[in-house]
Amino acid sequence: MTTANAPGKIILFGEHAVVYGQPALAIPVTEVQASTTVTEMDSSEKGRILILAPDIQFQGWLHELNSENPLAKACRLTLEALEIKDSPSIRIEINSTIPIASGMGSSAAISISIIRALCQHLGSELLPQVQSQIAFEVEKLHHGTPSGVDNTVIAFEQPVSFKHGEDPKPFEVGVPTTLLIADSGSRSLTSDAVGRVREGWREDPSSYEAIFDQIGSITRLARQAIKAGQLHVLGSLMNHNQELLRALQVSSPELEHLIRVALENTALGAKLSGAGLGGNMIALVSHENARSIVDALDQAGAANIILTVIEE
Ligand code: MEV
Repeated sequence: MTTANAPGKIILFGEHAVVYGQPALAIPVTEVQASTTVTEMDSSEKGRILILAPDIQFQGWLHELNSENPLAKACRLTLEALEIKDSPSIRIEINSTIPIASGMGSSAAISISIIRALCQHLGSELLPQVQSQIAFEVEKLHHGTPSGVDNTVIAFEQPVSFKHGEDPKPFEVGVPTTLLIADSGSRSLTSDAVGRVREGWREDPSSYEAIFDQIGSITRLARQAIKAGQLHVLGSLMNHNQELLRALQVSSPELEHLIRVALENTALGAKLSGAGLGGNMIALVSHENARSIVDALDQAGAANIILTVIEE
């Protein structure tokens, strides 16, 4: 039996604009994980692969699943990359503590955990870059035009500055930086939010591109502020990024409520994270005030709150 994990992720700056070629900053969130267990099965026939995902009440034989099934695609592409023709008969069980449709990269983390578990079980290895490419192909099934940021940060498991078409660059962190990740409780598919932005962009390309450019500039400034440990600057940049996300119409009343509560309770900055329209917001906080802001967000109705620290 072999088990492998992959973390969740949050985007600090640059979501949506990153789909249009701007940079984004993202970090892995190890407090939540997708986990895949591979177990050998007794079977007279070779190569029988059973996939189970109890969280979504899913069960299916790989050879019966069509090419649009993301779990099947992750398995097939991994076996292809490993050049395995005769796989043993195995059972692949996927579990995850990453909330679905909430901006924390659950689909990419599930793919990466499947890839890693199959590799380990079959005694092989795939480089993070290859894991990321496979997960990117699967992400396309979830929403047609992924930027690739989710699969990249999860496969490399380190803070990255990501820009489509360029190698991801790890970014430096000047001082330990405390973030709260609060779940608005409403779910939203990335494909819906990305589709909404695309519609707006088609209707009014010049205004949308001006917003993407501004988000890109903020992201570049944020990278310098994180490196220099300038947390107040970073907080203002988060607030500015949120104004632009609002203009892209991907915020929601629940997210706005949590953002307001965090800021009223001394957060240095706050914004939605990921695709928006639901899911999670993030707040930059001082370590000393973190507890009281957690309490305020809890009272304000956050469905779940995670405290994470980006380390130097
Ligand atoms: C989703 O986590 C981030 C988006 O920018 C979409 C993408 O980058 O593919 C909204």
